Formats: sequence, structure tokens, C-alpha cells
Amino acid sequence: MTELQRCDSIGAPPVPDKAAFPFVKWVGGKRQILPRLLEHVPSQFGRYFEPFVGGAALYFSLRPERATIADVNTRLIRTYAGVRDRVEEVIALLERYPYDETFFYEMRSVAVDALGDAEVAAWFIYLNRAGFNGLYRVNKRNVFNVPFGRYSNPSICNAPALRAASAALAHVELRNEDFEAVVAHAAPGDFVYFDPPYVPLSATSSFTSYARGGFDADEQRRLRDVALALKRRGVHVVLSNSSAPLVYELYAEQFEIVEVSARRNVNSVGNGRGAITELIIR
Ligand SMILES: C[S@@+](CC[C@H](N)C(=O)[O-])C[C@H]1O[C@@H](n2cnc3c(N)ncnc32)[C@H](O)[C@@H]1O
Repeated sequence: MTELQRCDSIGAPPVPDKAAFPFVKWVGGKRQILPRLLEHVPSQFGRYFEPFVGGAALYFSLRPERATIADVNTRLIRTYAGVRDRVEEVIALLERYPYDETFFYEMRSVAVDALGDAEVAAWFIYLNRAGFNGLYRVNKRNVFNVPFGRYSNPSICNAPALRAASAALAHVELRNEDFEAVVAHAAPGDFVYFDPPYVPLSATSSFTSYARGGFDADEQRRLRDVALALKRRGVHVVLSNSSAPLVYELYAEQFEIVEVSARRNVNSVGNGRGAITELIIR
């Protein structure tokens, strides 16, 4: 087992005062296309909703005063609650967690759902940072099953970044529900950003199983219908998705589609890495 290190020293990049960034790595994270996404944020809006929150890149960039962020991943939402409400406990726990393969596999098998939000957050952040490629994947029994990631100096705990995220989350409403329920009460003038699991570009790039149950073509159609109903009642709606034919088909008529280029680490691009086209839909 490696020597314990102070939280702030484990490969942590400096954090500018008050700046808050995603503290979990998430497949499909939006930092790549964030500048393009920001061009489509309305200049004024009421409440902000992000129902597929993942790493929350747009939320942390906007830091809206009134906001609801949500996801069906219960442990992810409990992680946000832990960082929001008990950040010093989260940091204290992470300080005790070494970057070590044996320890990683012990953590993986902890029955985490029975623990409090601070413990869930530390567990989630540790496995996200020390696990292979920051993936979140569980088996049918909801047991996390991503292997140990081999890094030279991983940033497992960045205390200033966690404190900044905690401050940025202070007034947020967190919900662990399906997207349709989350936006049911969005009012005219509110702003909803949907970043669903993307439609796979090919049969091999099936990133649809973020949560148990997956997100298939029928779910994509249900999302389009919800987006359309929101738009019709005066809610600002922006979505992102892949450039798969189904996405063009679903949004061609009532929405504007903007193509943007993103570098992605996915199998759909020959060598597994390269520039691909993604869509911003408004
Ligand atoms: C593409 S990721 C979001 C990426 C994120 N916006 C970011 O910037 O990192 C999609 C998210 O949708 C969640 N999800 C899947 N099905 C859902 C549903 N029916 N309702 C709400 N969230 C869902 C997954 O758990 C996952 O976190």
C-alpha cells in the first residue's frame, strides 16, 4: 500500500479562486464543446434545469442562481449532495484513500448504498479518479466493475476544487429521477439543457448503458417529444447528441440543428480517438 498523501498534493492542478469545474470525469463530458454550447444559452432565463447532469460541465460554467440538476444515477446524485453539504468530510475521507490497486478493489466491493452521502461521494470520486478512464459501469447487481486505472500521478483529491464545487452547488436542487419528471414543472422563460446518452454512431459505439436499463431509440423519441412540449410552452430548450441519422430525423422539422466538431475517445473513430461531429439542437 502506498504512503498516504495530503489531499491537495495528489496530482492536483491549481484551482483559480472561486472557479468550479466538474470534479468527476464522465463519458460524454461537455468541456470539449462548452464554448459552442455557451453560444446557445439564452441571455436571460428563469430557472435552469439539467436533467442528464453527468459531470455537470454546463452547470458549473453557468453557475445559475436558481437551478435543478438531476440524473437517474442515484450514487452520482448522492455524490453531489455529499460535496454540497459535507465537503470537509468528503475531503477528510479522500485524504485517507491511497492510490493503490489492492485498496481500489476493496473500495469497489464496499456496500456503499447503506452509507451516508459524504461516504458515497468519497467512494464515487475515488473510484472515478483511480479507475480505468474515469468510467462508471455496474453489473446487474449494481456492483461497480471498472478495473483499476494505471496512472503515474492521478488527481484523486483536489480539496480546493471540491470546496469550489461545494460553493457552486450550495443552492442547487438535486433530483434523482427520470428526465421527464424533472422538467414537468418548467415554466415559460426557464432554460432546460438536455445532454442524454448519445445515439450510437455505429453498432460498436454503444454508449447507451450509463444506467441500468439503457437509453434506446424509443427513449430518444420520448425525449424529443418532451423537448417539443417544453418549447411549445415557452421554455428555452437546448440539447446535444451525436450526429447519428436518427438524431437528424427526430429534430429536423421543429428544431435548428448546429454541427460542431469534438475530439472524442470513442471506438466509433477508427483508432478510437479523433474529431467527430456532434450536434447542438435548439
Ligand atoms: C451524456 S451523460 C451526461 C454528460 C454530462 N452532461 C456532462 O457534461 O458530463 C448522460 C447522463 O444521463 C443519465 N441518464 C440516463 N437515462 C436517464 C433518464 N431516463 N433520466 C435522467 N437521466 C438519465 C446517465 O446516468 C448519464 O449520467
